[in-house]
Amino acid sequence: NDYRVTEENLVIHNPPDDVFSLEIETIINPAKNTQLQGLYKSDNMLCTQCEAQGFRRITYFLDQPDIMATYTTTLVADKTVYPVLLSNGNPVDRGELDNNQHWVKWEDPFPKPSYLFAIVAGDLACIEDSFTTVSGRSIKLEIYVEEHDLDKCAHAMRSLQASMAWDEQNYGREYDLDLYMIVAVSHFNMGAMENKGLNIFNTQFVLARPDTATDSDYEHIEGVIGHEYFHNWTGNRITCRDWFQLSLKEGLTVFRDQQFSADQTSQAVKRINDVNGLRTRQFAEDAGPLAHPVRPDSYIEINNFYTSTVYEKGAEVVRMIHTLVGTFGFRAGTDLYFQRHDGEAVTTDDFVKCMEDANQVDLTQFRLWYDQAGTPELTMDTEYDAVQQRFIINFKQQCKPTPGQPTKQAFHIPVRLALFGEDGQAIKLHQDEAQIENAAAETLLEIKAKTSTFCFYHVKSKPVVSVLRGFSAPVRINLQQSLDDLVFLAQNDTDTFNRWSAIQNLSSQVIIGLSEEPDRPVPGQLLKTFKTIISQDWDDLAYLATLLTLPSEQYLSSLTTVINPDGIHHARNAVQQQLAVQLQQQLFNHYQQAVERETNEISNQAAAQRKLKNVCLNYLATLQTRESNELCVKQFEHAGNMTDELAALAAITFHSHPQRKNYLDQFYRKWQSEPLVIDKWFSLQATSPLENTLETVEALTRHADFNLNTPNRVRSLVSAFAVNNPLHFHQTNGAGYLFLMRQVQQLDKINPQIAARIVIPLTQWQRHTQQRQNQMKQALQTLLSRTDISRDLYEIVSKSL
Ligand code: TRP
Ligand code: ZN
Repeated sequence: NDYRVTEENLVIHNPPDDVFSLEIETIINPAKNTQLQGLYKSDNMLCTQCEAQGFRRITYFLDQPDIMATYTTTLVADKTVYPVLLSNGNPVDRGELDNNQHWVKWEDPFPKPSYLFAIVAGDLACIEDSFTTVSGRSIKLEIYVEEHDLDKCAHAMRSLQASMAWDEQNYGREYDLDLYMIVAVSHFNMGAMENKGLNIFNTQFVLARPDTATDSDYEHIEGVIGHEYFHNWTGNRITCRDWFQLSLKEGLTVFRDQQFSADQTSQAVKRINDVNGLRTRQFAEDAGPLAHPVRPDSYIEINNFYTSTVYEKGAEVVRMIHTLVGTFGFRAGTDLYFQRHDGEAVTTDDFVKCMEDANQVDLTQFRLWYDQAGTPELTMDTEYDAVQQRFIINFKQQCKPTPGQPTKQAFHIPVRLALFGEDGQAIKLHQDEAQIENAAAETLLEIKAKTSTFCFYHVKSKPVVSVLRGFSAPVRINLQQSLDDLVFLAQNDTDTFNRWSAIQNLSSQVIIGLSEEPDRPVPGQLLKTFKTIISQDWDDLAYLATLLTLPSEQYLSSLTTVINPDGIHHARNAVQQQLAVQLQQQLFNHYQQAVERETNEISNQAAAQRKLKNVCLNYLATLQTRESNELCVKQFEHAGNMTDELAALAAITFHSHPQRKNYLDQFYRKWQSEPLVIDKWFSLQATSPLENTLETVEALTRHADFNLNTPNRVRSLVSAFAVNNPLHFHQTNGAGYLFLMRQVQQLDKINPQIAARIVIPLTQWQRHTQQRQNQMKQALQTLLSRTDISRDLYEIVSKSL
């Protein structure tokens, strides 16, 4: 009668008034834990996932992030089954017991919240290396994997060392413990977890060998290793007061990993990829029923708030502060943050306050970015006064209502801007009538009101506007720009982001036009622009490859009022094919050149070369000539790395090549024992534009290698289909929706966190045709009608109906 155990809590009725010590013994069954939260079994190893609220599935505890404590952990286990026993901190003692058992005692000297606790037990192999910090301390680095994966850890280790050096150089942050461990597990709900001193990673973000992983896998590994490492300061040493502050650690850490990756590869391409992701995923979230602020103010299940808004938009908010206070000001702000709050559990507001105090700026209005959901829209109109030689820009900002927020206050929006003259040069900007020497060619406009006007003087001819350079704020821009202006910017803009953006806008206008009127000819401006771009000399081939890549179907759909998935798909294909016909020679030359230079090496240069080669192959494959088919097959058969092998297989299987089935089988047999490669095999088939793709996907759910208990496999088939194959997911008979609904239904009983994630494509029904809306809502209703629906899934589905 001294305590009561309920579904959720342990209640102790009469605790002593004073300080007391409480001993709790719990018995748990990790093998039955299919939710993968708390302590669970993955293959033959035991591991934990405690963020956000997994620790309470191990033992009763004050499981909230502002309860910081030091942990001593003793693991006792069978020596043969679990020779390796790990936890946070440093191993301080170990010993042997009877019955073939052994034990290891770990001590973590740093106070931490329970969500950063971790243990791992298993028969694991390890690669070891070290890192010497600026102050001369030698840190032992260990990566634990299954024995047969030992040859796939070198890149992860190099990435870790690069991250440690980068954080010292760029943020003055040194590692604190003497040991840093990373463990790779195959069953994992997300990417990776920053547990203090003992990161646990999805195998996807650790394992890589040139023949099993693509160049983009290599980049993602580097980025995620960096992300988890950077959390040691932004997340672990300084943590969140409560889960509403999640973006305090995630937004800031994503911003830091973006900077890190940009420094390791191509600044231009990294920024474009990040914005592409934000505009397709986060903008969709902000425009739908699940829109929430970067700092949400309520939730049913916190796991549902590890969203693109909290992560990627959160990073954009930090980036805007960086833009407003400058590189040095930002560093002063983070220095103050680390100094003022080390060892504390704080709020996003505390972070902003440090930026204000270090820079003597007022970010009161800026803070609305944390509280108001929705993507602001900036409508721009311009006037040129040839007599006065003045150029006037009027901005109007609006933000549509989001759940619980019918009206919004004006945001503080930093807009980087340049004006280009007829000669293709950026004009020196004078915002003061008096002529000032040395005026800059780019300015940062700070928009604060709902409407604002800026005037530029001494403008000799009507300029072309390059606005929101570098994507300086997460907003949509409405500016009527003619095809000719876009062509001009595509050729002259000195901002690498906006140059790409101009080409994207140009292609988007053309493709959307064509989707509405399929017989419309492709305007000469588009063909000419691509011809110019592809014929120029480029240092950064990855950037050229990115310029030549047409906007995705998802992004194109986001620009239309009623989504037409088939129309968009066919229009995009038609444009791609026309470009392939017109640029055949140039595409082929680039392809040949890359083949001649191919090294199979993993380096930025070699990866850029491959990226360009495969963009060219992708265009050429649309020609479907005997030559182009042969090119694909030849690349597939002779590929010396996964990037080329997969790109060739995609080209073969997406274009109804007669030998399609053979090559897919061949690939499967070759890679049968590499789950991460088999994931690619599933994804490829799920994203095919060919007819009968849904039937293939349904059949694949019955494949011996398909398993709802493995999140990576679910994502590689089910999500790949629902997210990346709009053509088939939205087929008019509604079969795509029913398929997803059934998978979600089954998955909800196994792993609610994943069920609640993969259902999201069904919740985005708002801009579809009435018929599709009805079908999607019907599928959601069916899910909601089950009495045993999880809290996770219930929250997402009920909010979206
Ligand atoms: N904090 C982790 C990161 O950003 C992600 C994370 C949160 C997570 N919850 C999780 C990972 C649950 C796996 C499972 O890196
Ligand atoms: Zn994180």
